[in-house]
Amino acid sequence: MEKALAYAEENFERFVSELEELLRIPSISTKPDHADDVRLAADWLAEHLRSIGVPRVEVMETPGHPVVYGENISDPNRPTVLVYGHYDVQPPDPLELWDSPPFEPIRKNGVLYARGTCDDKGQLFMHAKAAEAYMSAEGGLPLNVKYIFEGEEENGSVNLPAFIESHKALLAADVVFISDTALFGSGVPSITYGLRGLAYVEVTLTGPTHDLHSGVYGGAIENPINVLARMISSLHDDDHRVTIPGFYNDVIPLSDEERTTFASLPFDDQEWIEDVGVSVARTEEGYTVLEGTTARPTLDCNGIWGGYTDPGAKTVLPSKASAKISMRLVPDQTPEDITEKMRKYFEYNTPSTMKLTFTDLHGGYGALVDTHSDAMKAASKAMEGVYGEKPYFVRTGGSIPIVADFKKLLGLDTVLMGFGLDSDAIHSPNEHFGLDRFQQGIQSIIRWMKIYGEG
Ligand code: BES
Ligand code: MN
Ligand code: MN
Repeated sequence: MEKALAYAEENFERFVSELEELLRIPSISTKPDHADDVRLAADWLAEHLRSIGVPRVEVMETPGHPVVYGENISDPNRPTVLVYGHYDVQPPDPLELWDSPPFEPIRKNGVLYARGTCDDKGQLFMHAKAAEAYMSAEGGLPLNVKYIFEGEEENGSVNLPAFIESHKALLAADVVFISDTALFGSGVPSITYGLRGLAYVEVTLTGPTHDLHSGVYGGAIENPINVLARMISSLHDDDHRVTIPGFYNDVIPLSDEERTTFASLPFDDQEWIEDVGVSVARTEEGYTVLEGTTARPTLDCNGIWGGYTDPGAKTVLPSKASAKISMRLVPDQTPEDITEKMRKYFEYNTPSTMKLTFTDLHGGYGALVDTHSDAMKAASKAMEGVYGEKPYFVRTGGSIPIVADFKKLLGLDTVLMGFGLDSDAIHSPNEHFGLDRFQQGIQSIIRWMKIYGEG
């Protein structure tokens, strides 16, 4: 293993240049006009895996963007890891807020800037480079590796569950490994054991069949924007709890043990408040910032529109008002159940003067993984080897719904060892990834392969 670790140090410059090639491909999965770029990224990745010596690599079709599958089975008596990552990225908008073009990677003070550096091209590439280092320097891998790199994670992984379902034998493994999360803090090693789920809906209220003059008609017409605003503001009570009946029914409560662990984590509420740029944090009554952002369910309006919004005044009484609302869920809440409860809330509260349109945009399950498995123990030792201290076990507020599908469809637990930082601006302008963390990730993965592979 020492030789592999040294190889990764010696070849680091080249590793970064190769990653830059992948970052130059604008593989934006949600934009139909970028479908060719998504395929280009898949082909580049497949070719790259072949070039480092992965014996079987295929670009496999789905009804959407392709899956890059790779396989390196060296010894059937050794365990097999299924490495998942996504090579698609979020749209770069708003472009004008980037200091340099999003698909022209640039290095500044040891930090690499471009869309996808952290989420998730840079992180999935760590797995390719760790394997290359191992194969080249040690003559082979200490375990079997399968790769499943998808091209539509940022579009809700719409086709991946069906792909997994129909390729169960191909994907059979002992554990899943994903690097698509963040460290607890800069230089603070951590392994994620909890993810939140998601339920995302859109609602529209229609009042009058067309826009009306607010002077001529105002006084006898109920205004859809006023009504929608009232319905949205009633979704939280004074304790900042969600008021949808039954919303908390299936929430697994935080155990006393977990709360004690949370409280011992190196997290400073005041520092967080300053970083975010608010004057005070607003959590559900009785919960800390960390609990509220990672282990409690939430509801947020993501956009609201209707009526006249251009400059100047227009005295209109609008026909329609709309909003997008998302909820972050925790185990064992399900997106289906929460979406139904949300639908009932809106149906019940829509006055007879309005027509309601309610659309389920998408959902995903949260996950909690066992922290005591062999794979997790190996992950802890591997990170300790790199950082010189034991990693913390933490939960994140973000969502990677496919983790629940791996459990449900393949019976597999996932190791979530990511090297991002919450401040890496994923999904935002100037996304970046510290090259020190890119190297630490490669080193941690090399160590994990050895420890887990050799038992
Ligand atoms: N890598 C992120 C999830 C993430 C973000 C994990 C931050 C940990 C910390 C992933 O690519 C993502 O963006 N997920 C989406 C959900 C998805 C269904 C579009 C999310 O969390 O909004
Ligand atoms: Mn991601
Ligand atoms: Mn993302």
